[in-house]
Amino acid sequence: MLRKGIALAAFGLAIATAPAALAAGGAAPLKHAEFSFEGPFGKFDQAQLQRGYKVYREVCSSCHSMDLLFFRNLGQKDGPFYDPKYPNPNDNPYVKAIAAEYQINDIDSETGDVVQRPGIPADRFPNPFPNEAAARASNGGALPPDLSVMAKARHSGPHYIYSLMAHGYANPPAGLTVAPGQYYNKYFPGDLTASWSGDPKHVPPGGVLAMPPQLEPDKVTFDDGTPSTIDQQAKDVAAFIAWASEPKMIERKQFGLAAMTYLLIFTGLLYWSYRRVWRNVAH
Ligand code: HEC
Repeated sequence: MLRKGIALAAFGLAIATAPAALAAGGAAPLKHAEFSFEGPFGKFDQAQLQRGYKVYREVCSSCHSMDLLFFRNLGQKDGPFYDPKYPNPNDNPYVKAIAAEYQINDIDSETGDVVQRPGIPADRFPNPFPNEAAARASNGGALPPDLSVMAKARHSGPHYIYSLMAHGYANPPAGLTVAPGQYYNKYFPGDLTASWSGDPKHVPPGGVLAMPPQLEPDKVTFDDGTPSTIDQQAKDVAAFIAWASEPKMIERKQFGLAAMTYLLIFTGLLYWSYRRVWRNVAH
């Protein structure tokens, strides 16, 4: 009985820690990046989050919103600009400077006019477009999805974002028709059967999407001197989105580990008392 229980628990653990299934829908198997925040002892790499923020800011933020993120989140514990000197992120000078770079729509309390003012840590990240119609009009009819929970919204989110951005774009294989304004990406889930004129048994993996390739070598200058390759930019922005999608991931893991340790000790104690209680009973 007990052995069965242990086997079941081990099985549960194995399932919980196994990498999530690959993106569905005929996309190529993802390329896996090494992320510091994976595994039960994983932690965010703050330098990587700062680089990732820079990639988001300089490349992605002109199309993609981050609706659930406030500037002050950047300065919270485990965040990209956390500094123990400023336990209150509203006082953190980096966070203040970052917020002030953005223009935020506000209402003049005296005249009621819509005005723009520099951001403060308590503001949300502003949406790059005033509304959905404007976002679609600028992107060939497609809506750039909000990125604040993107790492949770896709299977193996950070690996998916990394693969899609850094290694997925390629010239379409001969025999595949791609409409103007669409780009072939082998990691974008899709079904290309209808636009494939080649061997029907070998429909290429992936799909087409309306986002052109975004990254180029040295497109972003990293302040810490890390070489700015496409691979690095994609990895860093994926890590930043993973943090934004779950800023309390590290706290959650630490709590989980403490709970598991407690349960293990408790299991040991229970087993020991079971043996003691039944010691002299024939069975
Ligand atoms: C020029 C505008 C533009 C920029 C800049 C841009 N994107 Fe996109 N992105 C789009 C559009 C449009 C879509 C929706 C494509 C579609 O559904 O066909 C999209 C889709 C995505 C998706 C979703 C794919 C899916 O599974 O649905 C991710 C992830 C993404 N972008 C990440 C990024 C990242 C990271 C950056 C910055 C490095 C970035 N994008 C920069 C326009 C942009």
